[in-house]
Amino acid sequence: MIDVWKYPLLKIGVFVACLMPLAVLAGQALTHNLGANPIDEITDQTGIWTLRMLLITLAVTPARRLTGWNRLIQLRRMLGLFAFFYGGLHFVTYIWLDQFFAVEEIIADVMERPFITVGFASFVLLIPLAVTSTTAMIKRLGGKWWQRLHRLVYAIAIGGVVHYLWLVKADIQQPLLYGGILGALLVYRLWNRYGRRSLVGIPRLRKAALRR
Ligand code: HEM
Repeated sequence: MIDVWKYPLLKIGVFVACLMPLAVLAGQALTHNLGANPIDEITDQTGIWTLRMLLITLAVTPARRLTGWNRLIQLRRMLGLFAFFYGGLHFVTYIWLDQFFAVEEIIADVMERPFITVGFASFVLLIPLAVTSTTAMIKRLGGKWWQRLHRLVYAIAIGGVVHYLWLVKADIQQPLLYGGILGALLVYRLWNRYGRRSLVGIPRLRKAALRR
């Protein structure tokens, strides 16, 4: 059987798949199918894909541990950078198409509307993670500091969910769904960090806990 990991086939496939939301959006724009308020539609689609990409990135490690498919880790950096990419598009849509570079109004909006404040903070926090995503930066920072810095991604995702919860007016079902998925990923992460260690103390469970 062909080992897809030997070739960049899967990476290319995932790369193309990650570009699909942008292709769909561009298609809708070119065929004038963005609805009555195209700017709102672009903001919403880029926003939701930022959040989805963040959650997919966070799901890589649990998926790797649960399936034993270690090479999944090779996709994590690319997925994280796509979260930054869609976040950048979302932000540019806001400052360009929505606010038309009115700096004073943007500053006032960031200061006065809590959902914009939280979204803005989350996006700003994504920048150092994108900048330090290269292999050279990982080496320069040292694994431990790099890992510490990149734990910020949880705070960013929480910010994304809060931003979403805050901006929807009536139906909070969708933001709650994303919040639930993030909650499950966080619980898994905490369990892995602290829960498994306590199991290791119980001889009968030590073997099983260490195997995972
Ligand atoms: C990590 C960063 C961010 C994430 C994850 C995020 C996520 C989202 C999501 C999920 C939506 C709603 C999509 C929908 O209704 O289907 C949204 C809408 C929006 N976001 Fe963000 N966002 C982020 C950063 C920002 C930033 C930096 C700004 C502007 C400074 C911003 C401004 C907006 C605006 C104006 C809307 C539309 C609100 C409306 O429909 O009334 N977001 N965002």
